[in-house]
Amino acid sequence: MIARQSIDDVLNVAQIEDVVGEYIALKKRGANLLGRCPFHDEKTPSFTVSPTKGIYKCFGCGKAGNSVSFLMEHDSLSFTDAIRKLAQKYNITLQEDSVQNKEEYNEQQQRKESLYTALLFAKNYFVEQLTSDEGRLVGDSYFRERGFTQQTIDLFELGYSPQGWESLVNEAKKNQFNLDFFVDAGLIKKKEDGHYFDMFRHRVIFPIHDLTGRVIAFGGRQLVKDDKSPKYLNSPETEVYHKSHVLYGIFQAKKSIRNLNNCYLVEGYTDVTSLYQSGIENVVASSGTSLTEGQIKLIKRFTDNVTVLYDGDAAGIKASLRGIDLLLEQGMNVRCVSFPEGEDPDSYCKQLGSKEFKLYLDNQSEDFIFFKTNLLMQTVGNDPIKKTEVVKNLLVSISLIPDALKRAVYAKECSKLLETDERLLLVEISKLRKNKSHIESQIIDKEITDLLKTDVKIEQSYSSTQEQEKNLIRLLIQSGHKKFMEEATVADFVFKELREDEGLELEHPIYKQIIEDVKDQMDKEFIFDEQFFVNHHNTEVRTMAADFLTEKYELSPHWGESGLNIKTERENYVRDLQSLFLFLKKSKIEQMIKENLEEMLKEEIAEEKDKYLHFHIQLIAVRDDISKILGTVINYI
Ligand code: UTP
Ligand code: MN
Repeated sequence: MIARQSIDDVLNVAQIEDVVGEYIALKKRGANLLGRCPFHDEKTPSFTVSPTKGIYKCFGCGKAGNSVSFLMEHDSLSFTDAIRKLAQKYNITLQEDSVQNKEEYNEQQQRKESLYTALLFAKNYFVEQLTSDEGRLVGDSYFRERGFTQQTIDLFELGYSPQGWESLVNEAKKNQFNLDFFVDAGLIKKKEDGHYFDMFRHRVIFPIHDLTGRVIAFGGRQLVKDDKSPKYLNSPETEVYHKSHVLYGIFQAKKSIRNLNNCYLVEGYTDVTSLYQSGIENVVASSGTSLTEGQIKLIKRFTDNVTVLYDGDAAGIKASLRGIDLLLEQGMNVRCVSFPEGEDPDSYCKQLGSKEFKLYLDNQSEDFIFFKTNLLMQTVGNDPIKKTEVVKNLLVSISLIPDALKRAVYAKECSKLLETDERLLLVEISKLRKNKSHIESQIIDKEITDLLKTDVKIEQSYSSTQEQEKNLIRLLIQSGHKKFMEEATVADFVFKELREDEGLELEHPIYKQIIEDVKDQMDKEFIFDEQFFVNHHNTEVRTMAADFLTEKYELSPHWGESGLNIKTERENYVRDLQSLFLFLKKSKIEQMIKENLEEMLKEEIAEEKDKYLHFHIQLIAVRDDISKILGTVINYI
């Protein structure tokens, strides 16, 4: 069974014109919309939809109802299935409710209704008070001074609470209300002696509405600065006001948020009213508290895109960073705008005027990754440790994004911004996400291995290890006995290199044999020259030597291949040998990359997999270094 609260949620959010609009074409006709009835055959439209009332009625066949009954009728769905369908459309997670006691539910509902009634009564009272003598003098003039128009005052139902201690108390009494509901709604307080007094006194009032426009709480701003009481006094949590699930302005903004597919998120009441007045209607406030998951889910019903506008002070920006992470975690696309020091969206909007302010928002809004990087990098300077912290901080944010593809895109962006290896970032991100579900980590694995495979593919075509080994042997046979530098021969250099890097041991058995023989020869201080190979006891070596030695030119191992036949000159040996070893090392490394990758794919234990990944990154780094050096050697030639 779907919980009542979830059903209420769906009913609150579903917009009749959206629901019906998916099935039939609707044209605007005054405050209503008109179309051809889907329930009976008609030529002239008589099917009317009223967005404000949330209902439809056909004047031809008489069918009428709300979003749910429309779906039930049109798609032959049960009530529950219609609710489920709507929940899906509006991104609402339905809570299942096992056995809710109907009586208990009704009782609770009735109590809530009483609170709503008290809140509505209070709101009307505060609105009315704005036009009283005291209200005009104090409250209304305050709003005017700050540039609030009448339209804004009406739309947000702004009001005024008089100076006295019992203004609302007396008004409620006069209307024979049970004052306890006012107490429960956070409007009135009860002293120990049984006397009641007003919670909001001598303040301008900002009613807080739920999605359907019902008043659920108030914020009251002081009129003159007085450090003894807070600038804004807010209703406490009540049965109908759950702060963590409410955003100021959502009722007024929701339509625009959906239409523009973006929501501006600000901090304060006046930021909302001010922006709205400037024509930016898709704006809501977290009302000073740090953003909660519940608030984000509320936005998510209307859009996946949020632009965070926070005050231009350090605290504001810190708050925005926490908020960003939460937003990312909920799968939101986040953009940010910062304001000059000391300005908030309200003050800056007034300073620039609406047109300029809108341009400012368009020009200054940047993806969170740029915003956060710039913000954090400001303090880094040349300190590599601080830079590492920034990278980690950014990775935490990226790792919160539920969508794997998006994470990969951000990792790429981040690697560009901070000049850090993309693979390394992906590995760190995957570590940060390790605690998430198994399926998640499989997705990450795929993400990384796909990337790694391209690493290998690009470079594989370059050269095979065997080819490079052959080049080395060729050089040894052709020129091993020749002077390389001062007294050293080419062979001396070759053995020095081979000794220094154990990983360079040759693989081909014949080549290996040759190297060992030469080494043996040299150890015995025998002179070896071309004849040594030509007369070798092994037939294969003899043939090979003959082949190499009859080649018309002694080819430089690589530029020869690329078509440049260069006659071997002694001074060329240096470069020939160096590059030859580099190529050899490179192809060895590439082979290791391939093998390591194969092992990694086979590995099932996450920690072990990680080790392979780290090794991979090291190997790639070495390979890239070699490529760089090779690039300069080749260019030099
Ligand atoms: P601000 O101090 O930035 O206020 O607090 P503001 O919205 O810009 O208001 P003005 O323009 O000075 O009148 C931002 C929000 O933090 C909450 C309110 O929701 C406020 O809108 N707040 C602030 C409180 O709840 N209590 C306070 O004492 C101060
Ligand atoms: Mn502010």
